[in-house]
Amino acid sequence: MELRDAWACFFLFYSFWFVTFCEQAGFLSLSCGGRKSFIDSNNISWVPDTNYITTGKTTNITYTDGSVSTNVSARFFSNSRRRKCYRIPMNNATNLVLVRANFVYKNYDGLAVPPTFSVSLGTSIAATVNLSEHDPWTEEFLWMVNKDTLPLCLIAVSDGGSPVISSLEIRPLPRAAYMNAMADFPNKLLRKSYRIDCGYTGDSIRYPLDPFDRIWDSDTRFTPFHATTGFSIQLGFNPSNVMEQPPVTVLQTGRVLARRNTLTYNLPLDEELGDYYIILYFAGILPLFPSFDVFINGDLVKPNYTIMRSEISALYFTRKGITRLSITLKNNTFYPLINAFEVYKMLHIPSEASSTTVSAMQVIQQSTGLDLGWQDDPCSPSPWENVNCQGNLVTSLDLSNINLRSIGPTFGDLLDLKTLDLHNSSLSGEIQNLGSLQRLQILNLSFNQLTSFGAELENLINLRVLDLQNNSLKGTVPESLGELEDLHLLNLENNRLEGPLPQTLNKPTLEIRASGNLCLTFSTTTCDDASSNSTNETPQVTTVPENQHNVHKHHLAIILGAVVGGVTLAFLLLSISLFLYKTKMQHEVASHTSRSDRDMRNWGAARVFSYKEIKLATRNFKEIIGRGSFGPVYLGKLPDGKLVAVKVRSDKSQLGADSFVNEVNILSSIRHQNLVSLEGFCNESKHQILVYEYLPGGSLVDHLYGTKSKKTSLSWVRRLKIAVDAAKGLDYLHNGSEPRIIHRDIKCSNILLDMDMNAKVCDLGLSKQVIHADATHVTTLVKGTAGYLDPEYYSTQQLTERSDVYSFGVVLLELICGREPLSHSGTPDSFNLVLWAKPYLQAGAYEIVDEDIRGTFDPLSMKKASLIAVKSVERDASQRPCIGQVLAELKEAYTIQLRFLEESCQNNN
Ligand SMILES: *[C@@H]1O[C@H](CO)[C@@H](O)[C@H](O)[C@H]1NC(C)=O
Ligand SMILES: *[C@@H]1O[C@H](CO)[C@@H](O)[C@H](O)[C@H]1NC(C)=O
Ligand SMILES: *[C@@H]1O[C@H](CO)[C@@H](O)[C@H](O)[C@H]1NC(C)=O
Ligand SMILES: *[C@@H]1O[C@H](CO)[C@@H](O)[C@H](O)[C@H]1NC(C)=O
Ligand SMILES: *[C@@H]1O[C@H](CO)[C@@H](O)[C@H](O)[C@H]1NC(C)=O
Ligand SMILES: *[C@@H]1O[C@H](CO)[C@@H](O)[C@H](O)[C@H]1NC(C)=O
Ligand SMILES: *[C@@H]1O[C@H](CO)[C@@H](O)[C@H](O)[C@H]1NC(C)=O
Ligand SMILES: *[C@@H]1O[C@H](CO)[C@@H](O)[C@H](O)[C@H]1NC(C)=O
Repeated sequence: MELRDAWACFFLFYSFWFVTFCEQAGFLSLSCGGRKSFIDSNNISWVPDTNYITTGKTTNITYTDGSVSTNVSARFFSNSRRRKCYRIPMNNATNLVLVRANFVYKNYDGLAVPPTFSVSLGTSIAATVNLSEHDPWTEEFLWMVNKDTLPLCLIAVSDGGSPVISSLEIRPLPRAAYMNAMADFPNKLLRKSYRIDCGYTGDSIRYPLDPFDRIWDSDTRFTPFHATTGFSIQLGFNPSNVMEQPPVTVLQTGRVLARRNTLTYNLPLDEELGDYYIILYFAGILPLFPSFDVFINGDLVKPNYTIMRSEISALYFTRKGITRLSITLKNNTFYPLINAFEVYKMLHIPSEASSTTVSAMQVIQQSTGLDLGWQDDPCSPSPWENVNCQGNLVTSLDLSNINLRSIGPTFGDLLDLKTLDLHNSSLSGEIQNLGSLQRLQILNLSFNQLTSFGAELENLINLRVLDLQNNSLKGTVPESLGELEDLHLLNLENNRLEGPLPQTLNKPTLEIRASGNLCLTFSTTTCDDASSNSTNETPQVTTVPENQHNVHKHHLAIILGAVVGGVTLAFLLLSISLFLYKTKMQHEVASHTSRSDRDMRNWGAARVFSYKEIKLATRNFKEIIGRGSFGPVYLGKLPDGKLVAVKVRSDKSQLGADSFVNEVNILSSIRHQNLVSLEGFCNESKHQILVYEYLPGGSLVDHLYGTKSKKTSLSWVRRLKIAVDAAKGLDYLHNGSEPRIIHRDIKCSNILLDMDMNAKVCDLGLSKQVIHADATHVTTLVKGTAGYLDPEYYSTQQLTERSDVYSFGVVLLELICGREPLSHSGTPDSFNLVLWAKPYLQAGAYEIVDEDIRGTFDPLSMKKASLIAVKSVERDASQRPCIGQVLAELKEAYTIQLRFLEESCQNNN
């Protein structure tokens, strides 16, 4: 009776397996370096790896193990520091997957030096493969993928030789399997140590017997080999009782203790201490209830454990800081029994670098025009080339000898930098965009063509070494450098600086190197007397070719003097040129300050606040409501009860006083319902503050990506209304104001909403006025925000209204797709919103439209909006529409959607 039941159950159950799992659902099997797809003897389909990796060379390896000859393909790599990565797209981002990789050397290169290298998964170094220990080598991991890409990389170790890989397999695992480990120890990766089918003595069991293609090994290799033979019986159970769903074939065999008192598996582990996760599987294959004590490393972990007939069960344990593992079952009432077990090492997954850092680094890589191999995380599993890290912080960046041309604004986002080396990177103009790097200790800007110190170096309060040698720095050394208390080396050699050096720098802790300048000493008199010193010091011609040109031109007088050799003549020329130069400088400085002062006083439109009034209004800067391009923004309340947003220029901000003056200047002269209006400003010595009308609706960023409390689901018609409003504001800047204004920093966080969800454009701190009405462009250093930057502006540095149109196009794409312009996960082709969305939208493939609005829009309205968005982000600026055209199209799209809503409303009634 019982037996018949069991058999019935078995057959039922077997047919179930067959139907469900023979399809290899979600399997991906890559034959690394392979040329052709094929199906192997286990009926698994293999494909070449070419779609998943872009580096490495391929080879074929033939080897024999015993009498079996095997042919495999392989891919091998250089032994450089750069990661060699497979990037596997994951169609479901919350699944547990098994990742198995095979490494074969077998002297394929004839050098007889088996390599050693690291293998990483995501940010963790998952294993070190040493093919002299055994060859071939298999690694297997279980990973809870929470990204849409799974990066598996090989990383060369020093003197380890060329990494090589032969196959890579990805298998989705049953839902909720191995969850105990994941739940108790979040952020862990499991690396397989053992997966044993107890009592089984044949070759490994895998797909199709295990539908998830785990490989189960026999237990014959464990010493001492157990006295009893394996016990095998044909019975049916439902393995899905246990979340891991061990295959029934595996459970049908077990190791049973018949004569002795204890059954023990001694399992060697890695040499260093590790944390392990252990699963024991039991199946009631005996016609009785075995009952026994379970010990792990001698500790009683489960007293009197009883197995029910025809049921399967599992025990889960973790053990921390162990180097060996023994599993012991001790006779209690009846025979101890075990059917299978798995042991995994739990590996820590390092946290990722901040997305601000990653996005800034991506922009910097883009600006170099080079492929620096900067992908995935900058710090883990191993730092990128040119980068060094502490934990997940990027602390050192070396872009020397790379044609960088300027220090872009994104450098200011690398807040954790301690060392920045930009020597010989063709920098010119002012030292800028570094003011926020307050942790910076070593800054090397030598061998460039920098002409001015800029105003931000004084903010680098931890600076220890500042190397500015062999630049084209002019004028005097700023006194403020003396405020850098930790500075102990200041190298100013071979510039065009003139003395005297400020007394603030005259301190015993600071070494100053000043030779090769016009005249640079602490003494105020020596220069005139000791002209011979200056003339003898012929400026050195630097090693950077572009520099020579400048040096020759500007030092013509001095070089001429030196060549003629007449000390008198040289002295004469030098004095004259110095005198002329100094007077000119003083004049320029004076006229600049007086002009800006005068301008500020004349801005009658905006109210002037005292610092005291501001403090009162903000209740001593109590509530921060946001961050602008140049500092925090506080909520304030004027005496008349009006709420205002108070934007304070922080000294640390990367943008200088210029942007303050710029914004007051521009905003005072313009008023428009779709531009945030300026209520007033405060400009008292150190305090530079702007007071705006307060918009309670927050920014578009809050609404699209905000945390749950702030995020509102914007309907398509609302999104169109916001787009129309913002386009109106922009249209006014481009065409309605005199002079024309280019905003330069259009992005979602600069579009604010009022109580009634009307949108207004804000933050004109970076904007530029186009003074000449017929000018086609303004040449500026590139400023703006990563992801919104017009690529043409980036490469030509020529700013036109069409750059704003580009940024606005990105905003439109965000409204349509509901995702940010740059994401750091995903496949390389989905990384950039513009590149990713364009082909879909052009083809009318609206499956990429934000889920929140899918099915609620009129297709014609979507078509109009998406086509104008796509046109706005054309790479070639001349192909982009002007903002007026964009506005017209958006208005139409809005009208169509309104009509659509009205109609569907009527139909419903
Ligand atoms: C091999 O797999 C295919 C599907 O991938 C299946 O249709 C076929 O029946 C399998 N063949 C064997 C012998 O299992
Ligand atoms: C590997 O072998 C295949 C045929 O089996 C051949 O087409 C291919 O060129 C070989 N690859 C190399 C790198 O030798
Ligand atoms: C491996 O390749 C060699 C030469 O290409 C061939 O002679 C041999 O039959 C192959 N062996 C197997 C198992 O495919
Ligand atoms: C993806 O995962 C979700 C739950 O995490 C599930 O509902 C869905 O069916 C999965 N989709 C695929 C294609 O596996
Ligand atoms: C690899 O293993 C061999 C043999 O155990 C050892 O001699 C060698 O030092 C190891 N290589 C590395 C880089 O650890
Ligand atoms: C197992 O333990 C029980 C009770 O302790 C004892 O009666 C029995 O003989 C033991 N069986 C074996 C095989 O040692
Ligand atoms: C062990 O458990 C079984 C079943 O629950 C019970 O019959 C037996 O008395 C227990 N033995 C001991 C020593 O606790
Ligand atoms: C000229 O320079 C040398 C060393 O550079 C210094 O020792 C000497 O005092 C200087 N002469 C004058 C007159 O300053």
